[in-house]
Amino acid sequence: MIYENLPVHVGFIMDGNGRWAKKRGLPRKLGHREGAKAFKKCADHCMKLGIKFATFYAFSTENQKRPEDEVEALLKLFDDYLDDIREMDAKNARLRFIGELSFFPDSTREKMLEAENATKNNTGFTCSLALNYGGRDEILHAVKRLVTEGCNLSALNEDTFGDYLYTKGLPDVDLIIRTGGEQRLSNFLIWQAAYAEYYYTDTFFPDFGKRELDKAFEEFAERGRRFGGV
Ligand code: IPE
Ligand code: IPE
Ligand code: MG
Repeated sequence: MIYENLPVHVGFIMDGNGRWAKKRGLPRKLGHREGAKAFKKCADHCMKLGIKFATFYAFSTENQKRPEDEVEALLKLFDDYLDDIREMDAKNARLRFIGELSFFPDSTREKMLEAENATKNNTGFTCSLALNYGGRDEILHAVKRLVTEGCNLSALNEDTFGDYLYTKGLPDVDLIIRTGGEQRLSNFLIWQAAYAEYYYTDTFFPDFGKRELDKAFEEFAERGRRFGGV
């Protein structure tokens, strides 16, 4: 395929892990494990294509409602991932974690900080993981900081407000891909996605790979983006 008009920033709502497992008579946590493999493949493919930014929705603030054993299995997966970020570092990729991270145990948070620090000078690709992330939580968190820090109202605009969001420094998202058949945002990047294009697929995330990602990019390249203009 010809790769043209690729998004600068692509967001992934990695949905369908549970149903992927259920279909095979497996526990949901095995679906999440396969989802983690698909995440790595998607990140690699984005990097190969020269895409600069990708953000992966891995755990929403609402996902805390899930049964304890499922949340525990997810936390363990994130923690395991953090134990080996050398691969990302070697590929000149920067890692970022966005969300309300105080939810995680201190040891996991320390690993997140270490991973961010170790990769902060990498310039090839920025891979952000949205963990205990909620768009509403992010906006409220920004407003609370603005109030407590005493904000200069005349200097407040859409750009300066963006500096208070967890995504500070990341460009707005151009394309959001959601697997698993649902056609909703589920509280993902609600500020940053104001002009994003959406791509939905019934494929469960563990089955989502390079070929379908190419299809999403192909469709994106053909969308007419006007940003309110003509
Ligand atoms: C997405 O898959 C991963 C998380 C939300 C953590 P789900 O776990 O939501 O899978 P389904 O939607 O139940 O199939
Ligand atoms: C969205 O999936 C969150 C993530 C993929 C991390 P959910 O499965 O939680 O979304 P809903 O509940 O179907 O909206
Ligand atoms: Mg789901």
